[in-house]
Amino acid sequence: MKSYLSHLECTACHTAYSADHPHGLCPACGKVLYPRYDLDAAKRGADRHALARRQRGMWRFFEMMPVRDETKIVTMGEGVTPMLRASRLEAALGVRTLHIKDEGLNPTGSFKARGLSAAVSKAHELGLKRLSIPSAGNAAGALAAYCARVGMEAHVFMPSDAPEANKKETRMAAAYLTLVDGLISDAGVLARKAAEERNLFDVSTLKEPYRVEGKKTMGYEIAMDLGWKVPRAIVYPTGGGTGIVGIWKAFEEMEALGWIGPERPKMLIVQAEGCAPLVWAFHEGATHAPMWKDARTIAAGIRVPSAVGDYLILDAVRASGGSAVTVTDDEILEAMRQMASLEGILPAPEGAATLAGYRKFLAQGALTPDDATVLINTGSGYKYMELL
Ligand SMILES: Cc1ncc(COP(=O)(O)O)c(C=O)c1O
Ligand SMILES: [Zn+2]
Repeated sequence: MKSYLSHLECTACHTAYSADHPHGLCPACGKVLYPRYDLDAAKRGADRHALARRQRGMWRFFEMMPVRDETKIVTMGEGVTPMLRASRLEAALGVRTLHIKDEGLNPTGSFKARGLSAAVSKAHELGLKRLSIPSAGNAAGALAAYCARVGMEAHVFMPSDAPEANKKETRMAAAYLTLVDGLISDAGVLARKAAEERNLFDVSTLKEPYRVEGKKTMGYEIAMDLGWKVPRAIVYPTGGGTGIVGIWKAFEEMEALGWIGPERPKMLIVQAEGCAPLVWAFHEGATHAPMWKDARTIAAGIRVPSAVGDYLILDAVRASGGSAVTVTDDEILEAMRQMASLEGILPAPEGAATLAGYRKFLAQGALTPDDATVLINTGSGYKYMELL
């Protein structure tokens, strides 16, 4: 198989960079770089009908993935997660079509596996050996695991009150763990400093250009799962937002490949009432979200006070005719119970936030009961025993 990766392009100033050397943010303007592909050649060479016959997992989309040499892939079978029809929730909520994409089944129990499999694979191809990451929890566990698998060093910076499972999985995988009194943003400052001092390559989300390529495979799978149609709406629990911008990128690429038409789902973002910079910015009509003060929520993965890709997230929500809501911690806990008791899926609190948010979007009229909707359960509730 051949990857059609061509170069990196800045999402703001559009400067092009080589995809065969390590890069972080755009050296010219400090914004996010995206991998770009030769879409004309891919349109001729990549066949969506061949995908189902390939081995399971997100690397079946190899032509549209950023690694050139297949032998450099570091994988544990991430991706190709179940798209489950939620018929008992449909009945309870009085809606017509609701699916849950269950990312809790990924290696390390969350969708972070997709992004870190992509980033670690590309780092391996580029010859990097020592990686650092600031993380709310799940990304750290995933980085530690993929680094262990390929024999790289992982240096992790995590809030000291992150979920126990994340600290334990990180230590078990022999990563270097630094607990930080503060939030992921504080961990980010330390990770950057350590990266400079110890010559580590920092794989902070969206500051590193390849994690988004792993996350975008959720978008390819959603279309494939639905017979190459897009749903009316996708509800996503948003922290750094790599997943939502990745899914949005996937739709753009799939249209260029001729795999889907010009339709797009409404991209609906959910944040916690105690940490909602993007919801605030969306309703204010702002293109950037100022740092949220005193961020708090039980959903650790969306306790992210500022996002480097805020402008990309807000663009996707607005261009899709989407919207944004907040949910309380009590609503999240109730939604965890509802998803588990009606559908048998024990979600991460972040995933449960999508169900709580979906109910609000319906109540506010942002969605109707006829709008076929996909909730992304981004992780497994089994990593959050202390909350149950
Ligand atoms: C389970 C879970 N859901 C959602 C998120 C937020 O993801 P994103 O950075 O793509 O917004 C995280 C991030 O840590 C997470 O662990
Ligand atoms: Zn730039």
